Amino acid sequence: QAIRLSDYRPPAYLIDEVELHFDLSPNATRVKARLDIRRNGDHAEPLVLNGERLKPVSVALNGRALGEGERTVDDEFLTIPNVPDVFTLETEVEIDPQANTHLEGLYMSGGRFCTQCEAEGFRKITWFPDRPDVLTRFTVRIEADRKFQHLLSNGNLLEAGELPGGRHYAVWNDPFPKPCYLFALVAGELDVLEDSITTMSGRKVELKIYVDPGMAPRAAYAMDALKRSMKWDEEAFGREYDLDLFMIVAVRDFNFGAMENKGLNIFNSSLLLADPATATDLDYERIESVVAHEYFHNWTGDRITCRDWFQLCLKEGLTVFRDQSFSADMRGEAVQRIKDVKQLRARQFPEDQGPLAHPVRPSSYLKIDNFYTATIYEKGAEVIRMLKTLIGAQAFRAGMDLYFERWDGHATTVEEFIRCFEESSGQDLSDFFAWYEQAGTPKVTVKRRYDEAARTLELELSQETPPTPGQPNKRPLPLPVAVGLLDAEGRTLAFERDGQAMDETVIVLKDGAAKVTLHGVDRPPVVSALRGFSAPVTLITDAEPKDRYVLLASDPDLFNRWEAGQGLARDLMLARAGGAPNEVGEERFAEAVGRALTDQAAEPAFKALLLALPSEQELALARQPADPAAIHEARETLRTRLALHLDEELRRLHTGLQQLGEFSPDAVSAGRRALRNAALDLMAANPRSEVVELARGHYEAASNMTDAIGGLSALMLIGGQAFEDALAHFYDRWKDEPLVVDKWFALQARDPGDGALGRVLGLTAHPAFDPKNPNRLRALVSTFASMNPSRFHDPSGAGYRFLADQILAVDAINPSVAARLVEPLGGWRRYRPEYGELMKAELQRIVGTEGLSKNVYELASKALAD
Ligand code: ARG
Ligand code: ZN
Repeated sequence: QAIRLSDYRPPAYLIDEVELHFDLSPNATRVKARLDIRRNGDHAEPLVLNGERLKPVSVALNGRALGEGERTVDDEFLTIPNVPDVFTLETEVEIDPQANTHLEGLYMSGGRFCTQCEAEGFRKITWFPDRPDVLTRFTVRIEADRKFQHLLSNGNLLEAGELPGGRHYAVWNDPFPKPCYLFALVAGELDVLEDSITTMSGRKVELKIYVDPGMAPRAAYAMDALKRSMKWDEEAFGREYDLDLFMIVAVRDFNFGAMENKGLNIFNSSLLLADPATATDLDYERIESVVAHEYFHNWTGDRITCRDWFQLCLKEGLTVFRDQSFSADMRGEAVQRIKDVKQLRARQFPEDQGPLAHPVRPSSYLKIDNFYTATIYEKGAEVIRMLKTLIGAQAFRAGMDLYFERWDGHATTVEEFIRCFEESSGQDLSDFFAWYEQAGTPKVTVKRRYDEAARTLELELSQETPPTPGQPNKRPLPLPVAVGLLDAEGRTLAFERDGQAMDETVIVLKDGAAKVTLHGVDRPPVVSALRGFSAPVTLITDAEPKDRYVLLASDPDLFNRWEAGQGLARDLMLARAGGAPNEVGEERFAEAVGRALTDQAAEPAFKALLLALPSEQELALARQPADPAAIHEARETLRTRLALHLDEELRRLHTGLQQLGEFSPDAVSAGRRALRNAALDLMAANPRSEVVELARGHYEAASNMTDAIGGLSALMLIGGQAFEDALAHFYDRWKDEPLVVDKWFALQARDPGDGALGRVLGLTAHPAFDPKNPNRLRALVSTFASMNPSRFHDPSGAGYRFLADQILAVDAINPSVAARLVEPLGGWRRYRPEYGELMKAELQRIVGTEGLSKNVYELASKALAD
């Protein structure tokens, strides 16, 4: 039943034009489609169109109604055995948007109509070849009751007007042929924030962001981010927007983050609406990056799309790379890089090292929805980043230009994309292609040999990728390792490579290994390897702690400066969790962090990242079988030691970083808040009564959501009545703001305290808990399962049982959302058997449940397979 890349065949029929006519009504929407179809090639295959959950009304070919014998309709397809080479097909179906809890196709959110078609939702709207390589020009007529005030679809508005009986209509035309997954329709009462820009060729583009009534002011930041994105894509990639109108709509009920429908992006409101009182700095940051991401898809996704869903990374990995580059330009390269790598390690590394490991371009799937993964998005972006490093910025840009020129208006493949860079760089990239086909995180080992007399440093690099399901033997991958040298005092050590003087070099591993001799190395070097995280690998070095202290204090590469601290902290915590605590080392680490905090040259945002220790999940991945209780204990112990040692400095930061003047969401102000909140968070690990008062005061004095959540989190870590009071106050203050209520649920789900599991179980009965709303569900359930390891891994197994119960309950409502809850159980083999067996038992219970969706079945059964 699996779908395979090797089975790809071009579409049997093409559709040049479609006219859709929607007669909207929440329970019974009529959809008429008029398709101009032509046979693609010389064959006698029947016409097969996808269609699910459609109530047939009529089917006519070239104006003649088809009888029962001339067509068949089943749960998945409309089949017409005999068709001419060129013809018009007219169909009419009825659908029930109100009953659509999958939130795929056409559904209702907050009393408004909206759509989500990627990947295979269009088939729940009308019969159509629901595959990305059929590109069609859409004309859409929408009719509805006047109370659905705005009637929106892709492209340009051709006409609009009144109809008898209190109804009205609008007709939209999208001049750009597109696959049906990019179709969108929205209808309802909305407020709109309007603006405009002039593009680089001097065209004026109207920008409109539609939101729930009363919310327009909260779209201002998204609008600002959109304008900056449009400008950036012109400057960085020469890409100009192509319609006269660009619209975004925010909806409350949405399965994912956002969707790049041509000219009409649809967003989860949590990634669009922000003001200082209700959104945190992290929300602002995400809004900026997702607005950019969806906008950038206009070229990498819409104008050039994927031939089939195996090519998903063609648009997603590339577009993530583009949005990461944008964010780096907006917010600072080093800090952005650290955040991106943290995210990669937290989400993609576990995937790559678990039962669901798959290549950036997978070769088979049951449900494509299950492949919107960190591997395809985040690792996909890393692959592009390496490509740019390997061929250089100029050849990279030239390759992108060629790609846009050659493939505009087409659905294409990763091979064709890479071919553009082979041509622009003149390099053979066939080895590089293995990055798309091979799963797993390579381990790269760096060995050094310094010869004092000869002043040479020999670096020997090798790699090994552990096996992943279905791929027992791994090929070596070409990968760039950026390297620089410091001396013991932390000064940059210059060197020569191939007769050239330099401070930094990129060593490329070809055929799995590399050996390089650097000359003119005057003093014993400390090696700073994999600078900027130049490849998505696990680095193994023979560096000693003293080398890492040098890097932590002085590496001009800020990524590696941060990384040195992370490595030191990780080893100390793992040693303690393994029963061999290194108290001297812990003290030394605390001192070094203290020095780093007083470094006047370092930005607050960077220091905030330095203060955050590697997560418990990251530690669990580093040494297996993992013992979640011991890891939690070890991490808390190191936090407490830091809190004790740095007490004075933390308090100084907390006082010194108070907000000056008006709130501003910019990166520098956000960095100051981040450091101040990180200081408070650490102080909570040493909770004396003054700290309780400090946290309470922090919460009460908060004039923005970042600080309110910061204060509340610190109180939560301390626990007790002060927390209970603040928590109740918070709910009372924000109960009418859904996005803030989500934060209230998520905060409690993250509580590492003893009573947290019971509280989480109780919250499923809270009147505000609504499993039909993906944001609310994820706030409680995903947050608990993936961000609260010490409580999720309750020795009784009650945390696992809770998750499995939720998966099964939600599967009946919304399978694609349910499937994305499976992942935390998937790592069962990494844990000590007393945990792992309990996790496995829940997976077995899930797989054994009758009527399970394909989505959940695919992930849960793969998690159990050997
Ligand atoms: N293309 C969208 C984006 O990344 C996400 C669509 C998610 N769809 C899915 N079936 N998981 O911007
Ligand atoms: Zn995307």
